[in-house]
Amino acid sequence: MRLKNIKGAKETVLKSHYVIENPNFFCGKWNQCFQNENPIYIEIGMGKGRFIIENAIRYPNINFIGIDVYYSVLIKAVKTLETLNLPNLKIIPMDAREIEQIFDHEIERLYLNFSDPWPKNRHEKRRLTSEIFLKKYDSIWKKDKWISMKTDNRHLFEYSILSCTNYGYHIKEISLNLYEDNPENNIPTEYEIKFSNKGFPIYKIEFKK
Ligand SMILES: C[S@@+](CC[C@H](N)C(=O)[O-])C[C@H]1O[C@@H](n2cnc3c(N)ncnc32)[C@H](O)[C@@H]1O
Repeated sequence: MRLKNIKGAKETVLKSHYVIENPNFFCGKWNQCFQNENPIYIEIGMGKGRFIIENAIRYPNINFIGIDVYYSVLIKAVKTLETLNLPNLKIIPMDAREIEQIFDHEIERLYLNFSDPWPKNRHEKRRLTSEIFLKKYDSIWKKDKWISMKTDNRHLFEYSILSCTNYGYHIKEISLNLYEDNPENNIPTEYEIKFSNKGFPIYKIEFKK
Protein backbone atom coordinates (compact mmCIF):
# COMPACT_ATOMS: atom_id res chain seq x y z
CA MET A 1 0.00 0.00 0.00
CA ARG A 2 1.35 3.43 -0.99
CA LEU A 3 0.95 6.11 1.63
CA LYS A 4 1.50 9.83 1.79
CA ASN A 5 3.97 10.69 4.51
CA ILE A 6 2.18 13.06 6.89
CA LYS A 7 4.51 15.49 8.61
CA GLY A 8 4.35 15.22 12.40
CA ALA A 9 2.22 12.05 12.28
CA LYS A 10 4.53 10.06 14.54
CA GLU A 11 4.62 12.76 17.23
CA THR A 12 0.83 13.22 17.12
CA VAL A 13 0.17 9.47 17.32
CA LEU A 14 2.58 8.91 20.21
CA LYS A 15 0.99 11.74 22.19
CA SER A 16 -2.40 9.95 22.28
CA HIS A 17 -3.22 8.16 25.54
CA TYR A 18 -4.66 5.31 23.46
CA VAL A 19 -1.23 4.56 22.03
CA ILE A 20 1.26 2.26 23.74
CA GLU A 21 4.76 3.31 22.77
CA ASN A 22 6.65 0.50 24.51
CA PRO A 23 4.31 -2.49 24.15
CA ASN A 24 7.01 -5.03 25.15
CA PHE A 25 6.51 -3.86 28.73
CA PHE A 26 3.03 -5.40 28.82
CA CYS A 27 4.01 -8.74 27.24
CA GLY A 28 2.21 -11.42 29.26
CA LYS A 29 0.35 -8.83 31.35
CA TRP A 30 -1.96 -6.89 29.02
CA ASN A 31 -4.77 -7.38 31.52
CA GLN A 32 -2.82 -5.05 33.81
CA CYS A 33 -2.81 -2.43 31.08
CA PHE A 34 -6.62 -2.62 30.86
CA GLN A 35 -6.97 -3.18 34.62
CA ASN A 36 -9.44 -6.04 34.17
CA GLU A 37 -9.56 -9.69 33.15
CA ASN A 38 -11.77 -9.24 30.09
CA PRO A 39 -10.91 -11.09 26.86
CA ILE A 40 -8.43 -9.39 24.52
CA TYR A 41 -9.03 -9.23 20.76
CA ILE A 42 -6.50 -7.73 18.35
CA GLU A 43 -6.60 -6.42 14.79
CA ILE A 44 -3.46 -6.40 12.67
CA GLY A 45 -3.55 -3.70 10.01
CA MET A 46 -6.23 -1.57 11.68
CA GLY A 47 -5.67 1.29 9.21
CA LYS A 48 -7.75 4.34 10.09
CA GLY A 49 -9.49 2.35 12.80
CA ARG A 50 -13.15 2.32 11.82
CA PHE A 51 -13.58 -1.38 12.59
CA ILE A 52 -11.76 -1.56 15.90
CA ILE A 53 -13.16 1.70 17.24
CA GLU A 54 -16.74 0.64 16.46
CA ASN A 55 -16.04 -2.75 18.09
CA ALA A 56 -14.72 -1.07 21.23
CA ILE A 57 -17.86 1.09 21.41
CA ARG A 58 -20.22 -1.83 20.82
CA TYR A 59 -18.48 -4.33 23.12
CA PRO A 60 -17.25 -2.55 26.27
CA ASN A 61 -16.55 -5.87 28.04
CA ILE A 62 -13.94 -6.88 25.50
CA ASN A 63 -10.51 -5.27 25.33
CA PHE A 64 -9.34 -4.37 21.83
CA ILE A 65 -5.82 -3.69 20.59
CA GLY A 66 -5.29 -2.31 17.10
CA ILE A 67 -1.93 -2.64 15.37
CA ASP A 68 -0.61 -0.86 12.32
CA VAL A 69 2.84 -0.17 11.01
CA TYR A 70 2.16 3.32 9.53
CA TYR A 71 1.82 6.48 11.59
CA SER A 72 0.28 8.17 8.55
CA VAL A 73 -2.83 6.00 8.85
CA LEU A 74 -2.86 5.75 12.64
CA ILE A 75 -3.10 9.53 12.87
CA LYS A 76 -6.64 9.29 11.46
CA ALA A 77 -7.64 6.81 14.17
CA VAL A 78 -6.07 8.94 16.88
CA LYS A 79 -7.97 12.01 15.66
CA THR A 80 -11.28 10.10 15.68
CA LEU A 81 -10.52 8.93 19.20
CA GLU A 82 -9.93 12.46 20.52
CA THR A 83 -13.64 12.87 21.16
CA LEU A 84 -14.24 9.36 22.53
CA ASN A 85 -13.61 7.77 25.90
CA LEU A 86 -12.86 4.08 25.33
CA PRO A 87 -10.92 2.48 28.19
CA ASN A 88 -11.14 -0.90 26.40
CA LEU A 89 -9.09 0.19 23.37
CA LYS A 90 -5.34 0.52 22.85
CA ILE A 91 -3.27 1.09 19.73
CA ILE A 92 0.22 -0.22 19.03
CA PRO A 93 2.26 1.27 16.20
CA MET A 94 4.39 -1.65 15.10
CA ASP A 95 5.15 -4.19 12.41
CA ALA A 96 3.30 -7.44 13.12
CA ARG A 97 6.54 -9.29 12.42
CA GLU A 98 7.45 -8.44 16.02
CA ILE A 99 4.21 -9.82 17.47
CA GLU A 100 5.80 -12.65 19.45
CA GLN A 101 7.61 -10.09 21.59
CA ILE A 102 4.40 -8.25 22.46
CA PHE A 103 1.88 -10.92 23.48
CA ASP A 104 2.38 -14.07 25.50
CA HIS A 105 -0.63 -16.46 25.56
CA GLU A 106 -3.27 -13.79 26.21
CA ILE A 107 -5.14 -13.18 22.94
CA GLU A 108 -8.54 -14.73 22.20
CA ARG A 109 -9.23 -13.46 18.69
CA LEU A 110 -7.28 -12.01 15.78
CA TYR A 111 -8.88 -9.87 13.07
CA LEU A 112 -7.22 -9.54 9.67
CA ASN A 113 -9.27 -7.15 7.55
CA PHE A 114 -8.33 -6.38 3.96
CA SER A 115 -4.72 -7.29 4.62
CA ASP A 116 -2.23 -6.35 1.92
CA PRO A 117 -2.38 -9.24 -0.60
CA TRP A 118 1.30 -9.26 -1.63
CA PRO A 119 0.45 -11.01 -4.95
CA LYS A 120 4.02 -11.78 -6.04
CA ASN A 121 5.24 -15.25 -5.03
CA ARG A 122 8.49 -13.81 -3.75
CA HIS A 123 6.51 -11.71 -1.24
CA GLU A 124 4.54 -14.63 0.18
CA LYS A 125 6.36 -14.31 3.51
CA ARG A 126 4.78 -10.90 4.03
CA ARG A 127 1.19 -12.16 3.83
CA LEU A 128 -0.33 -12.11 7.29
CA THR A 129 -1.68 -15.66 6.81
CA SER A 130 1.61 -17.18 5.62
CA GLU A 131 3.06 -20.04 7.62
CA ILE A 132 5.69 -17.67 8.99
CA PHE A 133 2.99 -15.49 10.57
CA LEU A 134 0.85 -18.46 11.68
CA LYS A 135 3.89 -19.75 13.60
CA LYS A 136 4.34 -16.36 15.23
CA TYR A 137 0.67 -16.29 16.28
CA ASP A 138 1.09 -19.64 18.10
CA SER A 139 2.58 -17.89 21.13
CA ILE A 140 -0.06 -15.13 21.36
CA TRP A 141 -3.11 -17.36 21.91
CA LYS A 142 -4.54 -17.73 25.39
CA LYS A 143 -6.17 -21.09 24.62
CA ASP A 144 -8.29 -21.47 21.49
CA LYS A 145 -7.04 -19.95 18.25
CA TRP A 146 -9.51 -17.82 16.32
CA ILE A 147 -8.66 -15.83 13.20
CA SER A 148 -11.40 -13.77 11.57
CA MET A 149 -10.61 -12.47 8.11
CA LYS A 150 -12.35 -10.28 5.52
CA THR A 151 -10.99 -9.38 2.10
CA ASP A 152 -11.99 -8.39 -1.42
CA ASN A 153 -8.98 -10.24 -2.80
CA ARG A 154 -9.85 -13.69 -4.12
CA HIS A 155 -6.23 -14.78 -4.36
CA LEU A 156 -5.43 -13.86 -0.75
CA PHE A 157 -8.68 -15.52 0.34
CA GLU A 158 -7.85 -18.81 -1.41
CA TYR A 159 -4.23 -18.65 -0.30
CA SER A 160 -5.32 -18.13 3.32
CA ILE A 161 -7.68 -21.11 3.22
CA LEU A 162 -4.84 -23.35 2.06
CA SER A 163 -2.26 -21.88 4.39
CA CYS A 164 -4.43 -21.95 7.52
CA THR A 165 -5.93 -25.41 6.94
CA ASN A 166 -2.49 -26.85 6.15
CA TYR A 167 -1.41 -25.42 9.50
CA GLY A 168 -4.23 -27.23 11.32
CA TYR A 169 -6.93 -24.55 11.47
CA HIS A 170 -10.45 -25.53 10.49
CA ILE A 171 -13.05 -23.33 8.84
CA LYS A 172 -15.75 -22.28 11.27
CA GLU A 173 -17.66 -19.92 9.01
CA ILE A 174 -17.31 -18.80 5.40
CA SER A 175 -19.01 -16.33 3.09
CA LEU A 176 -18.20 -15.78 -0.57
CA ASN A 177 -20.35 -12.68 -0.64
CA LEU A 178 -20.80 -11.09 2.75
CA TYR A 179 -23.32 -8.50 1.60
CA GLU A 180 -25.55 -11.06 -0.14
CA ASP A 181 -25.43 -13.24 2.97
CA ASN A 182 -26.33 -10.13 4.99
CA PRO A 183 -24.75 -11.14 8.30
CA GLU A 184 -26.01 -9.75 11.56
CA ASN A 185 -23.74 -7.41 13.46
CA ASN A 186 -21.18 -6.90 10.67
CA ILE A 187 -18.91 -3.93 11.34
CA PRO A 188 -17.46 -2.70 8.03
CA THR A 189 -13.91 -1.43 7.66
CA GLU A 190 -12.88 1.57 5.52
CA TYR A 191 -11.71 -0.69 2.68
CA GLU A 192 -14.82 -2.81 2.96
CA ILE A 193 -17.07 0.21 2.46
CA LYS A 194 -15.00 1.32 -0.53
CA PHE A 195 -15.01 -2.07 -2.27
CA SER A 196 -18.56 -3.13 -1.46
CA ASN A 197 -19.81 0.24 -2.75
CA LYS A 198 -18.06 -0.58 -6.04
CA GLY A 199 -20.00 -3.87 -6.16
CA PHE A 200 -17.07 -6.18 -5.41
CA PRO A 201 -17.90 -9.32 -3.39
CA ILE A 202 -16.48 -9.32 0.12
CA TYR A 203 -15.10 -12.64 1.33
CA LYS A 204 -15.23 -13.52 5.00
CA ILE A 205 -13.79 -16.50 6.79
CA GLU A 206 -13.33 -17.59 10.38
CA PHE A 207 -10.61 -20.09 11.24
CA LYS A 208 -10.37 -21.91 14.54
CA LYS A 209 -7.96 -24.39 16.06
C1 LIG B 1 -5.19 -2.44 2.86
S1 LIG B 1 -5.07 -1.70 4.42
C2 LIG B 1 -6.59 -2.16 5.24
C3 LIG B 1 -6.92 -1.27 6.40
C4 LIG B 1 -8.17 -1.66 7.21
N1 LIG B 1 -8.01 -2.96 7.84
C5 LIG B 1 -9.40 -1.67 6.36
O1 LIG B 1 -9.93 -2.74 6.07
O2 LIG B 1 -9.88 -0.58 5.98
C6 LIG B 1 -3.88 -2.75 5.20
C7 LIG B 1 -3.29 -2.17 6.47
O3 LIG B 1 -2.43 -3.11 7.06
C8 LIG B 1 -1.27 -2.48 7.52
N2 LIG B 1 -0.19 -3.48 7.56
C9 LIG B 1 0.28 -4.19 6.52
N3 LIG B 1 1.26 -5.02 6.90
C10 LIG B 1 1.40 -4.84 8.24
C11 LIG B 1 2.25 -5.41 9.21
N4 LIG B 1 3.19 -6.32 8.88
N5 LIG B 1 2.13 -5.00 10.48
C12 LIG B 1 1.22 -4.06 10.82
N6 LIG B 1 0.38 -3.48 9.93
C13 LIG B 1 0.46 -3.87 8.66
C14 LIG B 1 -1.04 -1.35 6.53
O4 LIG B 1 -0.26 -0.32 7.07
C15 LIG B 1 -2.47 -0.91 6.23
O5 LIG B 1 -2.91 0.12 7.09
